[in-house]
Amino acid sequence: MREYSIATIPADGIGPEVIAAGRTVLAHLEKQLGDVKFTVENFDWGSDYYKKHGVMMPSDGLEQLKKFDAIYFGAVGAPDVPDHITLWGLRLPICQGFDQYANVRPTKILPGITSPLRKCGAGDLDWVIVRENSEGEYSGHGGRAHRGLPEEVGTEVAIFTRVGVSRIMRYAFRLAQSRPRKLLTVVTKSNAQRHGMVMWDEIAAEVAEEFPEVTWDKMLVDAMTVRMTLKPQSLDTIVATNLHADILSDLAGALAGSLGVAPTANIDPERRFPSMFEPIHGSAFDITGKGIANPVAAFWTAAQMLDHLGEQEASARLMRAVARVTGAGILTPDVGGSATTREVTEAVCDAIHSSN
Ligand code: NAI
Ligand code: MG
Repeated sequence: MREYSIATIPADGIGPEVIAAGRTVLAHLEKQLGDVKFTVENFDWGSDYYKKHGVMMPSDGLEQLKKFDAIYFGAVGAPDVPDHITLWGLRLPICQGFDQYANVRPTKILPGITSPLRKCGAGDLDWVIVRENSEGEYSGHGGRAHRGLPEEVGTEVAIFTRVGVSRIMRYAFRLAQSRPRKLLTVVTKSNAQRHGMVMWDEIAAEVAEEFPEVTWDKMLVDAMTVRMTLKPQSLDTIVATNLHADILSDLAGALAGSLGVAPTANIDPERRFPSMFEPIHGSAFDITGKGIANPVAAFWTAAQMLDHLGEQEASARLMRAVARVTGAGILTPDVGGSATTREVTEAVCDAIHSSN
């Protein structure tokens, strides 16, 4: 029996709804496979915890999480707590504290889901976006002075280090090499931002020499939005800074049909710490409690988690089950269907047992 310990942090809004769905699916995988066991421990951290305790998680939160094999995370964000508190109080401290420097965001059009791009069919969009997840524009450097006065100033400093850029570049080239097309696009804004972004370009060229099989090109981030929309077939693996990839991957999720299907993995490639798996979407308070949250993103990120744990067969079985269910038109309203979270979850569980 192979055993894995998983910490769940469902947190806010629809987070608990989709993580519960994901736990159900994992339990069915256990039952179907018979030789793998997931021991799940739940943590009630998030905005409700904040309202009671004044912090999003206890001060020894990371210490508590350290012993797990993986973290399965819902979403943070509440209408009555400022977003920078929810984000910097829970999700970012985990990503940064555990040095999960590679944020990996696969996107493709699942069967039965229609892209808003008129000419884009299932095979035309199959990307993995690699987002630098430890520094850049979200390094938290900057400050404010003369608060509230006319001369108030705020700075938000992007930090790019040779270590940080080299390791994400190497991760992206390695990933591109492992995919059939061996194609990588490096995104920057090195025309207008002439320091850190030019360093990105230079390091990309250096790392490229280690990967002669990978074909790579460079794009400016603004032009990249156009290419993603008009020529989705021309892209495969994409690497970009924390901010740029954050924006591009929301666009990618939308082009693939809905934010409700887009997954992400926050990976520590060196495996010193647990990695964290989550849907890309937020807490979606407009649909919280209605039972219609799309659980597919939470399932897909669970498949990423299984892959990371070395359970490739379980991961593939889960994704086949998801594809069968979406292909059969069992879809939540965000992707044009009328099924509930529960109906989609039950259908995926059935498909786990019946597909091979
Ligand atoms: P959001 O992703 O929560 O929602 C955007 C839109 O997509 C909404 O109309 C929502 O109903 C829909 N949507 C999202 N996930 C869905 C799903 N699984 N099924 C069906 N529809 C879905 O982004 P929004 O509204 O900008 O932010 C809401 C809160 O979430 C904010 O507090 C924000 O800071 C937070 N947030 C947290 C993230 C995280 O925890 N990683 C990521 C993005 C936002
Ligand atoms: Mg985002």
